[in-house]
Amino acid sequence: MCGIVGYVGSPEENQNYYALDVVLEGLRRLEYRGYDSAGVAVVDGDGITYAKKAGKVAALESELAKGVFPQSKVGIGHTRWATHGGPSDVNAHPHVVDHGRLAVVHNGIIENFAELKHELSALGYNFVSDTDTEVAATLLGHIYNEVQDLTEAMRQAANRLEGAFTLLAIHPEQPDRIVAARRNSPLVIGLGEKENFLGSDVSGFIEFTKKAVEMPNDHLVVLTADSYEIRDFAGNPATGKEFEVAWDAAAAEKGGYASFMEKEINDQPAAVRDTLLGRLNEKGKLTLDELRIDESLLRSIDKIIVVACGTAAYAGQVARYAIEHWCRIPTEVELAHEFRYRDPIITEKTLVVALSQSGETMDTIMAVRHAREQGAKVIAICNTIGSTIPRESDACLYTYAGPEIAVASTKAFLAQITAAYLLGLYLAQLRGNKFADEVQLILDELRAMPEKIASLLERSEEIAQLGRDMKDASSVLFLGRHVGFPVALEGALKLKEIAYLHAEGFAAGELKHGPIALVEEGQPVFVIVPSPRGRNSLHAKVVSTIQEIRARGAVTIVIAEEGDTAVEAYANHIIRIPQTPTLLQPLVATVPLQIFACAVAGAKGYDIDQPRNLAKSVTVE
Ligand code: M6R
Repeated sequence: MCGIVGYVGSPEENQNYYALDVVLEGLRRLEYRGYDSAGVAVVDGDGITYAKKAGKVAALESELAKGVFPQSKVGIGHTRWATHGGPSDVNAHPHVVDHGRLAVVHNGIIENFAELKHELSALGYNFVSDTDTEVAATLLGHIYNEVQDLTEAMRQAANRLEGAFTLLAIHPEQPDRIVAARRNSPLVIGLGEKENFLGSDVSGFIEFTKKAVEMPNDHLVVLTADSYEIRDFAGNPATGKEFEVAWDAAAAEKGGYASFMEKEINDQPAAVRDTLLGRLNEKGKLTLDELRIDESLLRSIDKIIVVACGTAAYAGQVARYAIEHWCRIPTEVELAHEFRYRDPIITEKTLVVALSQSGETMDTIMAVRHAREQGAKVIAICNTIGSTIPRESDACLYTYAGPEIAVASTKAFLAQITAAYLLGLYLAQLRGNKFADEVQLILDELRAMPEKIASLLERSEEIAQLGRDMKDASSVLFLGRHVGFPVALEGALKLKEIAYLHAEGFAAGELKHGPIALVEEGQPVFVIVPSPRGRNSLHAKVVSTIQEIRARGAVTIVIAEEGDTAVEAYANHIIRIPQTPTLLQPLVATVPLQIFACAVAGAKGYDIDQPRNLAKSVTVE
């Protein structure tokens, strides 16, 4: 929710770019975090020059093209996902107050803004927007006029604000700096040569530097061209952890695809491969060095709770089958936003696994905090190095999917399943449920997955054509059993998110308990069919389900293994997936559903990467 960029260059340096160029580049890359409006402000002599516009960054750029913007070396920018106040020019950030001398951008929600607004109104301040940000900016300006120092003003303001915020401020009386504060909202510092950067995440400055610093929570930073100084909200000096960004700017480009989502679907073989890399030692033993949790403690775990939201929660649901099967540890999956409110039973023997692509999902952060307060150990599975969830967890198993830009998650899902499976195998190995040779066998199967996914991607066009043909459907149902059930939920979520099409995922066994009443002539129904090989009776049961819905007029789109002839009599369309053990099947069965949703959305002319009302990471509760 909302992307923030800041840049301080040195006036003496001859970089052939200015704050505006850096900020716009960062905003383009951070736009996936929100695209209701965009804006930029720079220090300009003894004032501030700014521009802001409702709509995407492109609308701001058109606005800027109408005039000449100052060649300043200090600037801030914002791309918004609206919370307080609708998407309009006036509600767009930056908010410029204090007679045009103080510019502020903000990500988060100020929970006590009404009370502060009341207090500031009584002092004679007027407000032009509906935002909580303008209140925070006005408060900052008010304090600045008392203390005449932006850092001290920010410190005092931060202590008055409740809720979540990253705030960046510039003022022409201290023209060499940006002062920023963060509480429960993301912020990363980028380090350059005689220039420094701020971003909601590293993509805000990846074009310029790969050296970054994790900004600690409840801290502020004073950023100049050649220094960064972190302090806590009491004013004490502090430090942040420096790190090197593992991917380059090209990884966050479309690479010739029409959309990021398409590119990211095609990145999936690499996402799975890279997540498996380097996690086996020379003796074939699974070693997860990142799990700095005492092994005896991990052996004593008697319950696992996976917390996550959206697609990540579906990855958790898939992982539950594997973890319980391999480790024999009772495993629950809970939506992070429900977790602490149901008063879950947590002891020191509970292991909480937090799944998150961004590492910044506020609901999941709050679940992690709750779990740790109750004494549980928390392992994060996350795709974003240096983000909040790994930092606040006891350990983190990173996924290596590379940057995921499209709002609809694809490669992160497959990478999350892969990492969660590694964790399950590791625990099974540690606790003696599985011996090295068994672990090795499953790992060999996992290692074969990237190639299987790649072979499936070669048939993308055939699946996309099906999507284009079905673009006018008014509703699509998805059915699956066992690990196929969360895959069905994920398939439905993809269609809802990007094609704005009513879609529901059901456990196929539940159909006769109600949902079958939805099936009428022409109703498209995807069915994910488990492998007919191996010792399970689910294959026959799912084939019966297809038969039952087909008899009631459904148009059946069956996702079945190569060679599975039993489904042929009842399928209107068959999408073949490579033969795969059932537990690993989600890594291939999900892919056609992603391609289908992408094609439907494309055929409808929708913005695939930036669907309406959504943002990539949900950083507010
Ligand atoms: O960054 P996270 O993995 O924590 O995000 C969780 C969900 O918000 C996310 O998966 C969301 O459901 C996606 N838009 C799904 O495509």
